[in-house]
Amino acid sequence: MDDPLVYLNGQLTPLSEARIPVLDRGFIFGDGIYEVIPVYKRKMFRAEQHLARLFRSLDAISIANPHTKPEWLALIQTIMDAHPADDQMVYLQITRGVAKRAHAFPANVTPTVFIMTNPIVLPSDAVRAKGVACVSLEDKRWLHCEIKSSSLLGNVLAAQYAAEHDATESIQFRDGFLTEASSSNVWIVKGGKLMGPPKTNLILEGIRYALLQELCAANGIVFEARNITRAEVFAADEVLLSSATKEVLPVVSIDGQPIGAGVPGPMYKKLYAAYQAAKAA
Ligand code: PDD
Repeated sequence: MDDPLVYLNGQLTPLSEARIPVLDRGFIFGDGIYEVIPVYKRKMFRAEQHLARLFRSLDAISIANPHTKPEWLALIQTIMDAHPADDQMVYLQITRGVAKRAHAFPANVTPTVFIMTNPIVLPSDAVRAKGVACVSLEDKRWLHCEIKSSSLLGNVLAAQYAAEHDATESIQFRDGFLTEASSSNVWIVKGGKLMGPPKTNLILEGIRYALLQELCAANGIVFEARNITRAEVFAADEVLLSSATKEVLPVVSIDGQPIGAGVPGPMYKKLYAAYQAAKAA
């Protein structure tokens, strides 16, 4: 469906007809937050966690939550039901609203609320079988990466750098330590352990962060959150990406250097299988 029904400020409208005023602060300042929720067989996956993060993001930038949780769920459900695909990716964006241009928050502004959905595009079996190439990059983003802000210029530039180097993602380092990729979290495997950077302001806590922790616990895999050096990433047995749209995905090279055996490894296979089981549960 090229022109799905979307929700914008209380109205249901075809995407092609949805309009916001040019003074929307999302457009002028990137003053907003967003969320991406995967849907499998017409059911949101980890809806509670995604909504909790949406609420945290709103709170972090002092936008009053315009809806209750049941209202959000009902709005998303309406948009999902109107789409013919069983497996979808719901996108929500809330901006501070429309006001005369001035940096500080305007008084009495109504947030802009937008919800759309599209068929989810997951990595193909061929991509999964081969694994993906990544490049490394100095993390030059701001210091509030924990907020799922729609101000994504740093991530956009990192993604473009990857695209220009025929890579799936840019894996970023700040002061020599692993942070995250342009639109996914990054994990390393060493000696049978899954390790990722701690949850700080330097990374977005992906909804798959806690999920992978749970999958490790259920499968007897040691999970460790700690600072990881660049050398450790390159010397890892495996490197994995996680996100709503990548699920878990094996990285087989960074900057042209093979990671481990240079093929998707056993930890990836175990976690991918566990992830598929969690989706089906
Ligand atoms: N991106 N880190 C960044 C910078 C991200 O943009 C994302 C997700 C993640 C993983 O979060 P989650 O597991 O909740 O998807 C980590 C989404 C998919 C996007 O921007 O489209």
